Amino acid sequence: MAYAWDDLPADLRASIQLRTGHVTKAVPPTAGTVSDYAATLDTATGPVFCKAIRTDNPRAWMHRREAAVSPALPNTAAALHWSVEAVGWLALGFEHIPGRHADLSPGSGDLPLITRTLGQLADALTPAPPLRGFTLAERWSGQDYWQTVRERHPDRLGPWTAVRLDALVTAEREAPGLVDGRTLAHTDLTGSNILISGGTARVIDWAFPAPGAPWVDTAYLVVRLIGAGHTPAEAEQWAARLPLWREASPWAVTAFGATLAGLWTLRSAEQPGRQWDILSAHGLAWLRHRLG
Ligand SMILES: Nc1ncnc2c1ncn2[C@@H]1O[C@H](COP(=O)(O)OP(=O)(O)O)[C@@H](O)[C@H]1O
Ligand SMILES: [Mg+2]
Repeated sequence: MAYAWDDLPADLRASIQLRTGHVTKAVPPTAGTVSDYAATLDTATGPVFCKAIRTDNPRAWMHRREAAVSPALPNTAAALHWSVEAVGWLALGFEHIPGRHADLSPGSGDLPLITRTLGQLADALTPAPPLRGFTLAERWSGQDYWQTVRERHPDRLGPWTAVRLDALVTAEREAPGLVDGRTLAHTDLTGSNILISGGTARVIDWAFPAPGAPWVDTAYLVVRLIGAGHTPAEAEQWAARLPLWREASPWAVTAFGATLAGLWTLRSAEQPGRQWDILSAHGLAWLRHRLG
């Protein structure tokens, strides 16, 4: 995070405090990378979670998107109380959710809470509320991650991947049509975007939503469960508690996994950051389980 509360422009702080009353304390969160500023603010009107970004930041569209989608979300998400644009900044003020990040490890008591939340979200967000922006099918159409890895980074292909490359390329080409659907999906479900609070799992950080199939968000979490120590089979057994998962076509789920693993494998070859290597390994572990 580039800024502390006292570093923010005085006019921005004044605009925020017109909404909240006097801010007495600002505590930054332990996760999050997108905002130029984020904190829980203790204010005269109670706690509020604030995330803010400079409007010239190339990622400012994510905050705008989150502001646009928030009114359409059920109370599984954090309510957006206000948004303020001043002196080249955009700040969003959310209901503060007291709690902790979800624990996705095997045996975690959070997993049944997350299952319930995923079912509720799919119910509440089908059909997807009318919003501008790409569907997941549009976001993924024309992407050829595995083909690009084959052409530019053949050294990145392990023996298992090299043998199945044709199948992976076919899967990612078919994926857009297979992940299409009428449910608004979050598309970035991770442990740090789920807060456990008062015996429920709340989903935050709706910066990147898109309409897609009802099982898409569960599929995003399956990879994260693998990352948290589940075997792929265990992660899928957890997912199978949801009827929406049992109704998904197995090939569609494989195509989803192939695309995600392709994206992460390409990123691990072309962008700095060990997180891409790790995500690519988890995505491939899932695919090995599905493709044999
Ligand atoms: N409404 C909220 N109440 C309490 N804490 C929150 C809230 N929203 C986000 N946080 C905390 O801030 C972190 C970063 O916020 P997030 O919206 O996920 O931003 P980023 O896009 O940077 O990941 C979250 O992981 C969580 O710890
Ligand atoms: Mg986040």
